[in-house]
Amino acid sequence: MLETLQMFQSYAVLYAAVPVSVIVALGLFRKWRSRNWAKCLSNTCLRGKTFLITGANSGIGLETGKALVKRKARVIFACRDLSKAKEAIANIRKGQPTGGEMIPMQLDLASFESIEKFVEVIKTGFHKIDVLINNAGVVVPLDRDVKTKEGFEIHFGVNHLGHFYLTNLLLDHLKRASPSRIVIVSSTLHQSGKLDFDDLNLTKEIEAAKLGRSSARRNPGYCNSKLMNVYFAKALADKLSGTGVDVYACCPGFCYTDLFRYSLKWYQYLMLAPVLVLFMRSAKEGSETVLYCATDYSIEGTSGKFYRNCSPFESKYPFNKEEEIKLWNVSEELVKARKPIPL
Ligand SMILES: NC(=O)c1ccc[n+]([C@@H]2O[C@H](COP(=O)([O-])OP(=O)(O)OC[C@H]3O[C@@H](n4cnc5c(N)ncnc54)[C@H](OP(=O)(O)O)[C@@H]3O)[C@@H](O)[C@H]2O)c1
Ligand SMILES: *[C@@H]1O[C@H](CO)[C@@H](O)[C@H](O)[C@H]1NC(C)=O
Ligand SMILES: *[C@@H]1O[C@H](CO)[C@@H](O)[C@H](O)[C@H]1NC(C)=O
Repeated sequence: MLETLQMFQSYAVLYAAVPVSVIVALGLFRKWRSRNWAKCLSNTCLRGKTFLITGANSGIGLETGKALVKRKARVIFACRDLSKAKEAIANIRKGQPTGGEMIPMQLDLASFESIEKFVEVIKTGFHKIDVLINNAGVVVPLDRDVKTKEGFEIHFGVNHLGHFYLTNLLLDHLKRASPSRIVIVSSTLHQSGKLDFDDLNLTKEIEAAKLGRSSARRNPGYCNSKLMNVYFAKALADKLSGTGVDVYACCPGFCYTDLFRYSLKWYQYLMLAPVLVLFMRSAKEGSETVLYCATDYSIEGTSGKFYRNCSPFESKYPFNKEEEIKLWNVSEELVKARKPIPL
């Protein structure tokens, strides 16, 4: 009897040892993977500086806001849903002592009217903006055919055009804070982007997706919008040279956030779990390069560059000036139909 019990115990230990060692091995592998995931080492006090983050209620934007407030910055949480902004701020207050100031505001980048209203409130409430972080972004399967209020394809409209309009309307406020910064959160997926100026709303790709013909490219709407982010950063850096307003584009790395909420079902998440553990950063790890671009003094003057892992990144995309100017011109025309922009 005693013998059986002892045997049972040793089996139990053995069975427990297997999953435990698997978990330990995964943990070690992740640690090894993360050796290249650089951290923002800048930790200067940011008291007196005003940061504006779009999409700050979730993922990378939220972690960026949290870290900035810890360094005593004043942070405007510009969110599509005001109640989510307030909730995010309340949660940060609960979790950490905040030396800074957090301001929830409503901004829907899928509506020009919302952007205009938001800018008006900013202009009456704030004298200057030190750092604008264009972080908000969406990924929506193309067959859903989602459009902004003005009828633009959702990735083009929100990820690029909405930020293009917002940024241009805020330039006076940024110049007033010089030396100041604009950080544009793009992605290395911009390298798969391809701009067809005759069809920026992707009508052909959307029709194909609706018919179940998937594109050779992974969500071309998203990749294109991330390419537009880089072109926008380059063009803006040129236009702002000599003003003391620096512009940086960056990629946070592949992170586990809510970004794929419309693309993945729960069981797909389950199947992806090992990939998540091994290859994906947390939102906090992803926020490091954004923070670096927003606050590290050492990069001042490197306007127009693209950063990843807190270092300059060499893109494989064959950028050309003509495409850059064309995108600027088209974007300007599309928003000018609303209001002249001060450039
Ligand atoms: N996660 C990654 O692996 C990864 C990799 C490379 C680049 N990025 C980039 O990182 C940025 C942040 O994404 P994330 O991963 O942190 O995703 P996330 O958790 O989904 O956060 C996206 C944020 O954008 C906001 N947003 C969406 N549509 C908006 C609109 N029309 N107006 C205003 N705000 C809007 C969302 O607000 P709601 O919560 O109200 O929807 C949310 O706060 C994006 O630009 C993304 O392209 C992410
Ligand atoms: C995209 O769609 C919008 C809304 O229908 C339209 O105003 C615009 O001209 C279209 N094309 C381009 C290239 O933006
Ligand atoms: C862009 O617009 C400017 C000013 O309107 C014009 O001179 C230039 O030719 C345009 N360039 C392209 C590539 O569209």
